[in-house]
Amino acid sequence: MDEITTIAPLRERIREWRQSGLRIGLVPTMGNLHGGHLTLVDKALADCDRVVVSVFVNPTQFVPGEDFSAYPRTYAADCAMLKARNVDVVFAPDVAEIYPDGPSLHTQVAVPALDNILCGVSRPGHFRGVATVVAKLLNIVQPDLAVFGLKDYQQLLVIEHMVRDLSLPVRVVGAAIAREPNGLAMSSRNVYLDEQQHDQAAVLYATLTAMAERLTNGEHSLPGLIDWGLDQIQAAGLKPDYLEVRRAGDLATPQAGDEDLVIAVAAYLGRARLIDNVQVSLATPGLHEG
Ligand code: PAF
Repeated sequence: MDEITTIAPLRERIREWRQSGLRIGLVPTMGNLHGGHLTLVDKALADCDRVVVSVFVNPTQFVPGEDFSAYPRTYAADCAMLKARNVDVVFAPDVAEIYPDGPSLHTQVAVPALDNILCGVSRPGHFRGVATVVAKLLNIVQPDLAVFGLKDYQQLLVIEHMVRDLSLPVRVVGAAIAREPNGLAMSSRNVYLDEQQHDQAAVLYATLTAMAERLTNGEHSLPGLIDWGLDQIQAAGLKPDYLEVRRAGDLATPQAGDEDLVIAVAAYLGRARLIDNVQVSLATPGLHEG
């Protein structure tokens, strides 16, 4: 496995692969890898001849007051995990390589249809930072396939939207959420939780699955269902940021007849902001906002 930190030699390697007709996969990450990332890597490895994993803690997706400098950086351990997986290249640029004139002067990519709802409300500018760095990584690597986690459901939709709008020649694939035994979605920010908080956080997935079950069993009142869910989360000692039932395809408010939904949550616990979601497919439509 090669570790490459600058764009020019990475492009050279990619050019050689392309000339040999190899299929290339990219898994963008911010490092601090865990089992969830490895499912993304495995998906890319299963589908591609060569896989690049980028490790870059992207400053432009952290909003003021967030944990950019404290974000866990575990590069040596990350490389050991990726090497064991037979990843071909780790691309680990520094901030100046990605943002040569500084992050604030860099061209930005925005997806206005999706960036100021749900997580975008408490993290204004976050998805612009994500879309910008992902557009850049896709242009640097020009992969056939790029894999992202379904845990960041809104992020995945933002990226799909951007790829479609900018006609980028890449297939974007979402990988299922990897979970701890208690249901907690795996996340780099779970390192902020102590043992007791780790147990408390199980309420998120338990609540989402219970809400999904109620919806499939014919629950008709979304406000009532959401209030119930918020109560569960608060009772476990978490501070909800939002809990919403949205249309899976575009995160709009569901209308009667919509069958493919996503229940999405964000909540604060100690130093961590945790997110999770479950998708629900309704056999019998009948939702209303009453
Ligand atoms: O999901 C992440 O880790 C990041 O948002 C991503 C996609 C690597 C962009 O920095």
